[in-house]
Amino acid sequence: MFDSLAPARLQDLHLFNDQASGLNAIIAIHNTRLGPALGGCRCLVYDSSRAAIDDAIALARGMSYKAALAGLPQGGGKAVIMLPSGTIDRKALFRAFGDCVEQLGGRYITAVDSGTELSDLDEVAGRTSHVIGTGQDGFDPSPMTARGVMAAIRSAANHCLGRDDLNGLHVAIQGLGHVGSNLAALLAEAGARLTVADKDPGRCAAVASQFDAAVVDSEAIFQTDCDVFSPCALGQVLNGDSIERLQCRVVAGAANNQLAHGSCGEQLRRRDIFYAPDYLVNAGGLIRLVLSRNGQQDQVEERVDAIADVLAEIIRRSHEDDLPSNIVADRMAEERIYA
Ligand code: NAI
Repeated sequence: MFDSLAPARLQDLHLFNDQASGLNAIIAIHNTRLGPALGGCRCLVYDSSRAAIDDAIALARGMSYKAALAGLPQGGGKAVIMLPSGTIDRKALFRAFGDCVEQLGGRYITAVDSGTELSDLDEVAGRTSHVIGTGQDGFDPSPMTARGVMAAIRSAANHCLGRDDLNGLHVAIQGLGHVGSNLAALLAEAGARLTVADKDPGRCAAVASQFDAAVVDSEAIFQTDCDVFSPCALGQVLNGDSIERLQCRVVAGAANNQLAHGSCGEQLRRRDIFYAPDYLVNAGGLIRLVLSRNGQQDQVEERVDAIADVLAEIIRRSHEDDLPSNIVADRMAEERIYA
């Protein structure tokens, strides 16, 4: 187990079990040098507890790097709840999770993520104050995450494709959940052409009718001939096989941990596809939560739009240093975390 903590430079890992509610939860705290660890809580079905732990560790590291690149006074952490099979009392599950967060005394602050809703976090908030983005506080991160993805797409389209606007830009979106559906609306408003895929046909149909998007199946989205491929579903979608199938010039999406391995960044570069590092692209939600919690709500949009400037710097350093963009982003984040 410790073998997987060291390469990620993870500070601590917490496992929780609550028999009454059936809760099996993991909280991974990557780093608290810049501030308390903040990161969402996933609630998904996992094949094994090992897979859930690995997910939490990788996601917690991503949160540290995300906060650092966004210039926020936060560390990185993440929680994973292994969604139990059968009928569950969801409120009891999240109340028990709130007790786990409370036990950590503020070293970890939780928020919404895949498989959790703001209403779940209302239950958490009944047990701990170390939670942000609930139905009650109204700090929904997803619209700002989508705005940040837009900022990244604009920056990459400008610096990599020589475009001044997004009119006619063809974007393929994988996943039309909280972020993907907001992103589709923003892109359509900017005049982009959309091709979309989601495992849920209802979500595809809604976006197709609202924004005149073409719909393809979950596998075909990878080989859509487009300008930008935007992964907004789950992680690890860019692997040796899928990268060879891509027919885009830029990858910029909200999903966390898009690269199955670090070396996939080099594979994308060899294919002349610019990869916009995921934890920068999807930092908008985190910026929203942190600034709102700190009473700086008026600065949120400006700071989210500044993702475009950080991406431009990554593109510049990537060319100058002849390095894949994921390596450049890691170095820039590490310069801030470990300075
Ligand atoms: P979500 O759970 O609301 O939406 C995910 C969507 O992807 C669902 O509609 C689901 O049906 C679809 N999907 C799942 N597997 C798929 C597949 N193989 N092919 C096509 N569609 C598939 O999640 P949300 O909140 O929209 O987040 C999307 C990604 O962005 C996640 O990786 C999340 O961790 C990341 N993220 C989200 C943030 C937020 O503010 N919500 C912030 C930062 C990152």
